[in-house]
Amino acid sequence: MTDFKAAIRTIPDYPKPGIQFRDITTLLSDPSVFRAAVDALVGPYANARIRHVVGIEARGFILGGALAHQLTAGFVPIRKSGKLPRETVSVTYALEYGEDRMELHRDAIEAGERVLLTDDLIATGGTALGAVKLLRGLGAEIVGACFLVDLPDLGGAQNLRDLGVDVHCLVA
Ligand code: PRP
Ligand code: ADE
Repeated sequence: MTDFKAAIRTIPDYPKPGIQFRDITTLLSDPSVFRAAVDALVGPYANARIRHVVGIEARGFILGGALAHQLTAGFVPIRKSGKLPRETVSVTYALEYGEDRMELHRDAIEAGERVLLTDDLIATGGTALGAVKLLRGLGAEIVGACFLVDLPDLGGAQNLRDLGVDVHCLVA
């Protein structure tokens, strides 16, 4: 059994005093742990007929591409505002340490299609809830949302489950 937790390091007081920053770069850089993490994340969705994996900038892109490849799905990015060239839908969302705005190409998702949402980590859930709003606004069926890390004290995964999203995390 791979010890995913041991592969993630914690940086105190980054990027602000009081934040325990969970740094996944150490997990990503370990060949066997990265592979095991991708395999564990796709497991529940192997036969779920996912059309698109939707990854959230920036760390959700690293996992999202790998998951999409494994699922033979396409990849769709949700980007910070001002980065996508065609017509977008957008939402402002709250973060553990601030506020931001993110966007999705309006023509990237067809109504009724099955998507898997992914990011490296869920904390307050502000980011993921914003993504769910964008995707449901375009009529996507969110089959699940998966993350390497859940910070359960911040309640984000529970908030997402309360919206009816199936949430799958490797470590808490
Ligand atoms: C981090 C992380 C998630 C989000 C989780 O991204 O990658 O996207 O915060 O926090 P939440 O559950 O409280 O919304 P960040 O906004 O730091 O951006 P980055 O990926 O560009 O570093
Ligand atoms: N994103 C939001 N909170 C975070 C944390 N504590 N560590 C890493 N990424 C984060």
